[in-house]
Amino acid sequence: MFFKLENLYSGYGHVPVICGIDLEVVRGEVAIILGRNGVGKTTLMKTIIGLLPRTSGEIIFNDLPISDLPVYSRACLGLAYVPQGRGIFPDLTVEENLRMGEGINIAAKTRPYTEVFTYFPRLKERLRQKGGTLSGGEQQMLALGRALIGDPRLLLLDEPSEGIQPNIVGEIGAVLAHLNEEKNLTILLVEQNIEYALSISRSCHMMNKGKIVARVAHDELHNVETIKKYLAI
Ligand SMILES: Nc1ncnc2c1ncn2[C@@H]1O[C@H](COP(=O)(O)OP(=O)(O)OP(=O)(O)O)[C@@H](O)[C@H]1O
Ligand SMILES: [Mg+2]
Repeated sequence: MFFKLENLYSGYGHVPVICGIDLEVVRGEVAIILGRNGVGKTTLMKTIIGLLPRTSGEIIFNDLPISDLPVYSRACLGLAYVPQGRGIFPDLTVEENLRMGEGINIAAKTRPYTEVFTYFPRLKERLRQKGGTLSGGEQQMLALGRALIGDPRLLLLDEPSEGIQPNIVGEIGAVLAHLNEEKNLTILLVEQNIEYALSISRSCHMMNKGKIVARVAHDELHNVETIKKYLAI
């Protein structure tokens, strides 16, 4: 079993947010969870990476239950997380931010700086610049670049298209597609941008009120009524 969530619950204090999610991600897949504001997408990502404890249920990665492991141990196993809002270190340089990615996947034999600079030449041009002075799109490239330096086995992305101009969204989408198709990288991405989700995956898991309510195929995603029904718009 590559990656699986089994009846997962989590929340804040006594307030439940994730309410019994079952999900399986196959190696080499791009899995997308689509849901509007506040349905619990970020809460789910935080629970998967370990920033938030699960209340019950299990997270399985490479046949191993990881729900009780701290964040750094999950990262060492090869889980890389690109948080919503990027989460770069504003006072560290681009180079120092990228180095942070070396803590991911301790079994990795390479730290693919050359590849990351091929994907995002702008990062190479700005190695000594403070992360906080990059544009929003560049910060997203840096956050993704940092995750890729770790040579991850599973890449978790929280709304990578948010607040970024369309051409950079396209550029990042193309890199993700390349990594998936050429490097067989497995990706789990949460989004509320339907167009973006459609551009990178054949199907989406629909999320509402802390639950996965349906799996919708690519052609159905063009159907506005279907989207409205599952996303409760
Ligand atoms: N630190 C927190 N403490 C208490 N409640 C929280 C906390 N973070 C989020 N919540 C609540 O949990 C629910 C889900 O929030 P979450 O951020 O997971 O949604 P989301 O799907 O990521 O939304 P968005 O698309 O706006 O990013 C919301 O009702 C939110 O108010
Ligand atoms: Mg969110």
